[in-house]
Amino acid sequence: MDKPVVILGIETSCDETSAAVMRDGRLLSNVVSSQFVHEQYGGVVPELASRAHQKLMIPIVEEALAKANVSQKDLSAVAGVIGPGLMGSLLVGLNFGKSYAYGLGIPFIGVNHMEAHIYSNFIEEPWPSFPFVCLTVSGGHTQLVVMREDFQYETIGQTRDDAAGEAFDKVAKMLDLGYPGGPKVDALAKEGNAEAVSFPRSFLDDDPFGFSFSGIKTSVLYYLRDNHRAGISKAELADICASFQASVVDVLVIKTIAAAEEYGVKDIAMAGGVSANSGLRRAMSAAASHAHLTLFVPKLEYCTDNAAMISAVGYRKYLRKSFSPISESAVAGLELGAQFTN
Ligand code: KG4
Ligand code: ZN
Repeated sequence: MDKPVVILGIETSCDETSAAVMRDGRLLSNVVSSQFVHEQYGGVVPELASRAHQKLMIPIVEEALAKANVSQKDLSAVAGVIGPGLMGSLLVGLNFGKSYAYGLGIPFIGVNHMEAHIYSNFIEEPWPSFPFVCLTVSGGHTQLVVMREDFQYETIGQTRDDAAGEAFDKVAKMLDLGYPGGPKVDALAKEGNAEAVSFPRSFLDDDPFGFSFSGIKTSVLYYLRDNHRAGISKAELADICASFQASVVDVLVIKTIAAAEEYGVKDIAMAGGVSANSGLRRAMSAAASHAHLTLFVPKLEYCTDNAAMISAVGYRKYLRKSFSPISESAVAGLELGAQFTN
């Protein structure tokens, strides 16, 4: 019997330190440590993030190996995120991953964080069939990507200003809900009326698959300024969250379905932190079945940053012997598909 392929995945692009172990494509462990140090600052402080990664890296890797009941000598390769992300955070994970692999005499596989989000749909079956369209919505990105085969990314649209998650976080900040705001807006929206306030939907007629969320965000700011100078009740807060969320979700859903129709695919997928949003999951699922499309959405724990998705890419690249040179470096603004795909 062939030796099993055991991949250690490492994710440190932003404020989650995570390690995962995958054997022959099956996830054995996925340990994620979110850094709460940033909460008091209302956003991620890059310097603090790198320091926290530095402290957490080895314990998290050891925990992931122990949970998977795998020892260092069982590992076939280390897969680690190389970008996009915060430079200091990326450097901690990448340099740890390369050194660890080098010390064990096994390959290092560099992974693009955004491709890993797409591949979070391949952590557990069933998974989408090629070709499919993926909507990736995170704190830093909003992208529509057509995938015709493994590692072939055609980005057909992206945001020209704020990412969807960034809009959620900024609106949450205006409403004093704390950081990260997405899950908080989501929770409050469940209690509110989505038709209470009519926030704009930006469809960009000249860019059918592009996005813009800064207008919606500014409208929330003006709405608060004009209507709530004297404070805001819990019920009004819930209505604002529900109305804001509905306007973001409407645009995401309509454009994703239109992209599927334009590119003639039968499967669509979602990925990234905002794909954890309950309103988006519900609306996309309804729109997909109405359009006779099959929707794939990762489990909640695989939507936000995690190393399971890194190991899913690592496993597939290992089978193709797509290894990184020892000189592999971190790239803060790494584009999807900019890397080697041999
Ligand atoms: O993918 P992710 O963990 O990190 C990046 O790659 O950016 O995404 C984080 C983003 C944050 O903006 C967070 O507020 C948002 O995802 N998010 C949500 C929800 N859960 C996380 N946004 C809306 N609803 C949620 N339930
Ligand atoms: Zn992410």
